[in-house]
Amino acid sequence: MSKNVLELLIKADGFVSGEEMSKVLSVSRTAIWKQIKKLKDEGYEIESVNNKGYRVINYPDKFVVDELAYLLENSSLVEEIYVYDTIDSTNKEAKRMATSGKINTAVFIAEEQTVGKGRRGRTWVSPKGTGIYMSLLLRPNINPNNASMLTLIAGLAVSKAISLVTSLECMIKWPNDLVLNNKKVCGILTEMSSEIDYVNYVIVGIGMNINLDMIDKELEDKATSLKIEGNEIYNRKSILVHTIKEFEKLYQQFLKTESLDFILDEYNARCINIGKKVKIENKAEVIIAQTKAVTSKGALLVETENNELMSIQSGEVSVRGLYGYVD
Ligand code: BTN
Repeated sequence: MSKNVLELLIKADGFVSGEEMSKVLSVSRTAIWKQIKKLKDEGYEIESVNNKGYRVINYPDKFVVDELAYLLENSSLVEEIYVYDTIDSTNKEAKRMATSGKINTAVFIAEEQTVGKGRRGRTWVSPKGTGIYMSLLLRPNINPNNASMLTLIAGLAVSKAISLVTSLECMIKWPNDLVLNNKKVCGILTEMSSEIDYVNYVIVGIGMNINLDMIDKELEDKATSLKIEGNEIYNRKSILVHTIKEFEKLYQQFLKTESLDFILDEYNARCINIGKKVKIENKAEVIIAQTKAVTSKGALLVETENNELMSIQSGEVSVRGLYGYVD
């Protein structure tokens, strides 16, 4: 019911009378009024004028399930949307829900994470109301060996969403980061539960620093936010919705072939590694190389100092000039 009142208000893009809403929704005027009050309590600024009705003058800068459901109306990527004011980690919550057996696909979004998870056991600083902390729970019918390609798809989706909503051009640092002016603004953590040849579920966790004013001292030469770089407050809802929509388009295409061929030109054009010197740290060794391209399997193709071509699937990759790597 609350979804419908909000929907009518958004669609009206101006005044809509209580009488009209009660007719369309087949409920009493009192029921409409109660829903308006609830929306106001949630932070929607709603003007009411005699003989005209109601209109929204300001939307709250917070994630609300009903509004997101309306904005994502035509998306079939996820069946459910969960929003939390505060949570330990949206990736952890996605995992708990995935294993509960109650849900199939969903997106989990939080205003704040108390134990945001980064890659390699690091934490992801997730202060309230300033970022996007979201996890997609997906059940793709793909070979588990190809699941890591979803990280690249997510990276491209975020980069495109940021270009659509802002005038900022984020580059992708293969495979997990998005960077702006050589500093990280977004990190992606993809986790999977699978059998040898079957994916139970994949969780694509995306953390974006949007309207943060300051970065913790120890991270300030490595990380930044869209607001710090663009000197503007950005619409988090719009970036989130565009990210999901862009991801969905790429994901549908990817499921058909399990190859990244169709995004390679665009990906390589936005990938900051290309042509740069990189240091790759694997368990066994440290390799210094020049980056050539990202391949259709999502690997990083590099040329070592001995002119050998190598395809890197994973590992900690430092790019010369980024995050303080200057060797
Ligand atoms: C990294 O760069 O280390 C990856 C960071 C991923 C952070 C996101 S925020 C939403 C989701 N929930 C988490 O706990 N982590 C991911």
